[in-house]
Amino acid sequence: MNTFAGGSIESVLVEKRVFPPPVEFAKSARISSMEEYRTLWNRAKDDPQGFWNDMASHLVWRKPWDKVMEWTEPHVKWYVGGQLNASENCVDRHCVGPRRNKAALIWEGEPGDRRVLRYQDLKREVGRFANVLKAQGVTKGDVVAIYMPMVPELVIAMLACARIGAPHTVVFGGFSGEALAGRIQDCSAKVLVTADGGFRRGNIIHLKEQVDEALAHCPTIRNVVVLKRTGHQIHMEPGRDHWWHEMASIASADCPPEPLDSEHPLFILYTSGSTGTPKGILHTTGGYLVGTTLTASWVFDLKEEDTYFCTADCGWITGHSYLVYGPLSNGATVVMYEGAPDYPDKDRFWQIVQDYGVTIFYTAPTAIRAFMKWGEQYARKHDLSSLRLLGTVGEPINPEAWVWYREVIGGGRCPVVDTWWQTETGAIMIAPLPGATPTKPGTATLPLPGVVPEVVTKSGEPVEPNQGGYLVIKQPWPSMMRTIHGDDERYRRQYWSEIPGVYFTGDGARRDHDGNFWIMGRVDDVLNVAGHRLSTMEIESALVHHKAVAEAAVVGKPDELRGQAITAFVTLKSGYQPSEDLRQQLRQHVAHEIGALARPDDLRFTDALPKTRSGKIMRRLLRDVAAGVESTGDTSTLEDFSVLARLRHEEE
Ligand code: WTA
Repeated sequence: MNTFAGGSIESVLVEKRVFPPPVEFAKSARISSMEEYRTLWNRAKDDPQGFWNDMASHLVWRKPWDKVMEWTEPHVKWYVGGQLNASENCVDRHCVGPRRNKAALIWEGEPGDRRVLRYQDLKREVGRFANVLKAQGVTKGDVVAIYMPMVPELVIAMLACARIGAPHTVVFGGFSGEALAGRIQDCSAKVLVTADGGFRRGNIIHLKEQVDEALAHCPTIRNVVVLKRTGHQIHMEPGRDHWWHEMASIASADCPPEPLDSEHPLFILYTSGSTGTPKGILHTTGGYLVGTTLTASWVFDLKEEDTYFCTADCGWITGHSYLVYGPLSNGATVVMYEGAPDYPDKDRFWQIVQDYGVTIFYTAPTAIRAFMKWGEQYARKHDLSSLRLLGTVGEPINPEAWVWYREVIGGGRCPVVDTWWQTETGAIMIAPLPGATPTKPGTATLPLPGVVPEVVTKSGEPVEPNQGGYLVIKQPWPSMMRTIHGDDERYRRQYWSEIPGVYFTGDGARRDHDGNFWIMGRVDDVLNVAGHRLSTMEIESALVHHKAVAEAAVVGKPDELRGQAITAFVTLKSGYQPSEDLRQQLRQHVAHEIGALARPDDLRFTDALPKTRSGKIMRRLLRDVAAGVESTGDTSTLEDFSVLARLRHEEE
């Protein structure tokens, strides 16, 4: 079957099944009826200032704000004049009452090692590492880069940065040294926190080697703190590299959280856009924390006794918002796992769910499609009866996967929340409230209170129900990005100029007669490969850096498992001949420049690339060629292509 971002368009269009919230679940849910939801949503729409004023009371503030919001399009400030500290909200405030002995973080390493950090322990470790950072010369406002495997120290490092007002920039461990260097250079990070390596599918990921390569081009980095995780032999640069355990052993655990302005930068997270270089998305403290705290509590219905497992890596926004800030600010118990879902066998997640009695599980559609392919016997081996809520994020979920997830993993009793949002939005925007919203497989359903989305034409006119259009957001919200670090012009252009007066998401969508939003995928040149955002231009520019390449065009090809796969079309410079050896070299070259996640699955040599008269590469055509649509004759897929193609065409 042909797929669009993992699902067949036909099944999405004919999808009529509706799953109301289970009665038992709704009884004790935080928001337990559509009436309650509508009241909240209408209030937030009509009186955003009053609504968000009240919502901020879920946090501990050092100084109250003078003004809820200041909006001068496209720039917003929230809780102006207020002061708070994100690490105090995520850690210290839970250390005064009975929660102080509650598990904050339950961690399992891939080799099977386990650690539990209670809120008290987390506070001590965060305080200690904040003092280590200070000793390395980090002061308020300095950027700290973090490039680590999924170990508790990654969370500790993030919160330690937040504690002293040093914005962090976490770089996913799957990115290469080159990609790390580019990000460090862009934000002029002063200190890098890393590890000797991490474990993945039984192998060691050699992080420190990548770091050594990167730092040859990063003059702003003065010090590197290295966590010993794998214990394999690495190079330690004298005067620059310091062992985490040595620094920590001489640091005090006591570091009072610094009161910070609500608009103080909390982090910069790089993500792919439609042009070559990654964008440093800037989030600030107060609004981001209000947004993530509230949405974690609403959408995951977090209760005191929950055990919450988010499978995302902290290198992505989901890890930031729903592994660290959102759940910890709510005082939840978070399960964190270091490695691959299929190591040592394909039931690893289910073993974790059973062993820790996980109640809420949040993962990506691409993972669910892999579980389906592996077969339900892996889930059946374990007792999953502790689960009460399932979530997905990162890409459209096809109804088949949605229903499988609900039945096989959720035992037919757990609501499924399909959550739509972006690095830029900071927090979940469109998602069911599990105790209130009737769900349908394949739609993220309705906007959360405070979120006012619409599907519009290029000129900003609302489209009729069930017509495809652009997804935009019409009112500012607290957790929205503030700018692109170092490039405010690009921020204006990319998000606030395409369609007048609104935030443009880059996604195509349609809204059905019940008001549900069906996200159709990106309308720009951003790829979504296994839930990871990649830019076609970034991969193209990596390819043309190779001496043999004259021109390159990269497109996404529908992939049943990963949503999209990467297809590259390459023309060679004279003197170079296509060969299997060169094909492998070029694929490897991309992995080296960006990371293995960007390695083209399919690389085709061609004499010329199809172009318009004005010289623009005709990507639409290449996409069809990559997908082989003509040859399959599957009109449902063609239909999907035509909608997206029209949108793309309008853009051209
Ligand atoms: C896509 C991930 C459909 C979308 C949190 C968006 C989704 C991009 C969904 C952002 C969903 C995310 N249904 N599509 N539930 N969630 N997307 O910045 O195209 O890594 O624009 O943030 O992922 O990806 P990002």
